[in-house]
Amino acid sequence: MGTLQAQIDPHRLPRHIAIIMDGNGRWAKNKGYLRAIGHENGVDALRKVATASARLGIHYLTVYAFSSENWNRPKSEVNTLMGLLVSSLSKELKTLLENDIRLRTIGKVENLPARAQRELQEVIERTRDCQRMDLTLALSYGSKEEITEGVRHLAAQVEKGQLKAANITQEHLAQALYTASMPDPDLLIRTSNERRISNYLLWQIAYAELYFTPKLWPDFGEEDLHQAVLDYQNRERRYGKISEQLKSQ
Ligand code: FPP
Repeated sequence: MGTLQAQIDPHRLPRHIAIIMDGNGRWAKNKGYLRAIGHENGVDALRKVATASARLGIHYLTVYAFSSENWNRPKSEVNTLMGLLVSSLSKELKTLLENDIRLRTIGKVENLPARAQRELQEVIERTRDCQRMDLTLALSYGSKEEITEGVRHLAAQVEKGQLKAANITQEHLAQALYTASMPDPDLLIRTSNERRISNYLLWQIAYAELYFTPKLWPDFGEEDLHQAVLDYQNRERRYGKISEQLKSQ
């Protein structure tokens, strides 16, 4: 066990970790490689972090793999990422099964190329009984659109007379989001020195602890994950209360 891991309290782990995997392009540039190589190394980092998370006892890991805004990147880069998604899915099925990890997606998956949708469906199907951890890929995902869709869904229920506008609760909206069946993230990690949320899980991170690191995503590994979890455990989550109220609970 690493020295950092030994310091982690297994009883106070974040249940759900969300990650904005940023910096693949800069990592490649720094080394004089093509951006595509950065993304390939990004997939390696994701494999390491996902297996380390499952080993640690994290139940939900949700990673920003492709945002709805990423469609605006040059066509060649979009194609590279979609190609990488397809090749990684078939290659990593074994890793997922060996580690008892269930694959899921959030986002407008219907906008992905048909081949990517088929591969996703296949891996989702093959891992459906895995129970150790849910790995959710946010693909063609944008939080404002997700919330807008949720509102549209509730409005349609009101129109049909199934729900009264005055009775709409936070729970109704939470249940209308892609993440309906998951707890909210406790910890959000963003790599590569950027301090933005970039339209990621805006509703769900209301009380998440935010962790920013200068490490570029391809360099982020198991030790970095442990560092982030330790940092999380050293914070006090007050949910709007004062310190003394928490101690008396
Ligand atoms: C950010 O780096 C990363 C992405 C836009 C994609 C993240 C994808 C992976 C880690 C690979 C797994 C996902 C798929 C779809 C196979 P960046 O390109 O924004 O880096 P930069 O800000 O340094 O340019």
